[in-house]
Amino acid sequence: MRKPWARAVRGGLLSGLLVGAGAGATVENNLEAVLKLGPRVTGSEANEQARGYLEGELRALGYLTRRERFSYPRFDDLGSEVRVGARRLSGLALQGTPGGEVTAPVVRVPGVGTPGDFAGANVRGRIAVVARGQIPFAQKARSARAAGAAGLIVVNNEPGELRGTLGDPVALPVLGVTPEVGAALPEGQPVTLAVRVREGEVRGVNVVAFKSGVTQPELLFGGHLDSVAGAPGANDNLSGTLAVLELARRAANTPLAARSFFVLFDGEEDGLRGSRAFVKDNARLVGGLRAMFNFDMVGVNADPLAVGGDAGLVTLARRETPTLGTLGGSGGGSDHASFAQAGVPVLFFHRGLDVNYHRPTDTAADPRLIRETVDVALKTVDAVLSAAPAAR
Ligand code: BES
Ligand code: ZN
Repeated sequence: MRKPWARAVRGGLLSGLLVGAGAGATVENNLEAVLKLGPRVTGSEANEQARGYLEGELRALGYLTRRERFSYPRFDDLGSEVRVGARRLSGLALQGTPGGEVTAPVVRVPGVGTPGDFAGANVRGRIAVVARGQIPFAQKARSARAAGAAGLIVVNNEPGELRGTLGDPVALPVLGVTPEVGAALPEGQPVTLAVRVREGEVRGVNVVAFKSGVTQPELLFGGHLDSVAGAPGANDNLSGTLAVLELARRAANTPLAARSFFVLFDGEEDGLRGSRAFVKDNARLVGGLRAMFNFDMVGVNADPLAVGGDAGLVTLARRETPTLGTLGGSGGGSDHASFAQAGVPVLFFHRGLDVNYHRPTDTAADPRLIRETVDVALKTVDAVLSAAPAAR
């Protein structure tokens, strides 16, 4: 339990001494504290730890927090590989493949794995290797199985890891590999294909923060806290999460707090799961919103800060901040889409797709850019709240 005097001390004379947590914390402190936990994949320990820490920050600012739970099925690769003697070459299980471990000689099938390609190669009882491209993964796998293969490896036709989905179930373990791993597979020699997967139910948790007594906000500020496997998610999307926390901090002792909800969404990377659950479970509240502001990837200036979404809100935001870019057609899916679908005017803040997007190198976000995003958002908020309420 927090000591009774802790909050008073944090907000008072000693606040400068207690940086790193609570009301005296900064974006810098928050970044450091959450980043060191590692990737925040929904359902993981790090994801839960990050949420616990951020809830503490929101409460220290005087907000109440509640947790809203949801669940969905997800397919996970638990670490699949090809072993060539003592060498371990990693790959990614295609989504939907069965797991399994098989040791057998490698046969390179010339081509992409059409039935004709398999007709010219003897893969019976062996591990077939084909190139990515031209036909769906499931067709390659079905043809490999029909030709009697014991397993299938699909080699990427461009640099990098192959992430793919089988689509239809096929009774054969299928692994995707980089061109380098593909080139290292020894023709005719035995290798061990180990595909380790799990199909399970994932539990996600949204955090909702609001001031005591507020049940119908006019504005909702959101950002997703989860990240993809293997990526620390500094820009995607600790940056947006901390923009929401910084907004909560700046609003805390102002009238804005009584008109706002702040939400940290989970499960975004698995298909906007958290925001969809929120919209479904809070239909009435969502129906009464004047605007939803979403922050996703605002800590790295791949492009200058831009907004997308509702035309009226974009116009207001640009009137306040003429340097704002606007988002063209496909700016990436994020949680605002769930609200837009429910008829809520949305405004999506982002700074474009940086080169470290969904990579292990997504390790840095700039606190200045996060604060600058919040400055722009607050100017827009003033304009929205002083405009006549739109009939909905
Ligand atoms: N952060 C991205 C979306 C994004 C892209 C924000 C570009 C800003 C600029 C998000 O986490 C993501 O990866 N979305 C997926 C879709 C989602 C439904 C899994 C995408 O855009 O492919
Ligand atoms: Zn994101």
